[in-house]
Amino acid sequence: MSNRIYLCLAHMSGKEQSFIKEAFDTNWVVPLGPNVNGFEADLKEFVTASIDELETKEVVALSAGTAAVHLALIACGVKPGDEVIVQSFTFCASSHPITYLGAKPVFVDSEMDTWNMDPELLEVAIKDRIEKTGKKPKAIVPVYLYGMPAKIDEIIAVAEKYDIPVIEDAAEGFGSKYNGRCVVHSENTVC
Ligand SMILES: Cc1ncc(COP(=O)(O)O)c(C=O)c1O
Repeated sequence: MSNRIYLCLAHMSGKEQSFIKEAFDTNWVVPLGPNVNGFEADLKEFVTASIDELETKEVVALSAGTAAVHLALIACGVKPGDEVIVQSFTFCASSHPITYLGAKPVFVDSEMDTWNMDPELLEVAIKDRIEKTGKKPKAIVPVYLYGMPAKIDEIIAVAEKYDIPVIEDAAEGFGSKYNGRCVVHSENTVC
């Protein structure tokens, strides 16, 4: 039994219907309300490793994971005609927002250990795009597919070498840890 792997199934706590009723009763159906504020505060604590970080990290609840990737790309200044590097082995929502903005996804293959973006192929792709277009890709989107953290230290090292912001798509990685820290959407976005 010790080698059994438990899958994380969605489950109800039993309190959902009373919270839905409360939202209707208190007319906080739109736009936000105390429960969204509470959720953001709880989430911030959950994903924060230290007191210092608690003061600097911002957590914003959005309608969907796709919206988070979309907003992060806008924050990085992605415009029509730009290129954005994205993991090829992923759910389509990692790349759709790139095309919403009129930019072009440049897909990078995964490595064998984590099945996420290969840092070596990332550098090959960056060099290739600079050589062929004369422009750097505007952002890099690695993914924590199936909850498995990517080799983010190596990816960040390449990104820093070329000064390109990284947007972490952690939609499937919620609760996963890398070097003892929770992975989160867009943690390393530097714009
Ligand atoms: C890797 C990944 N990115 C983004 C998303 C988008 O999340 P949403 O469906 O909430 O828009 C998903 C959803 O499954 C996903 O798996």
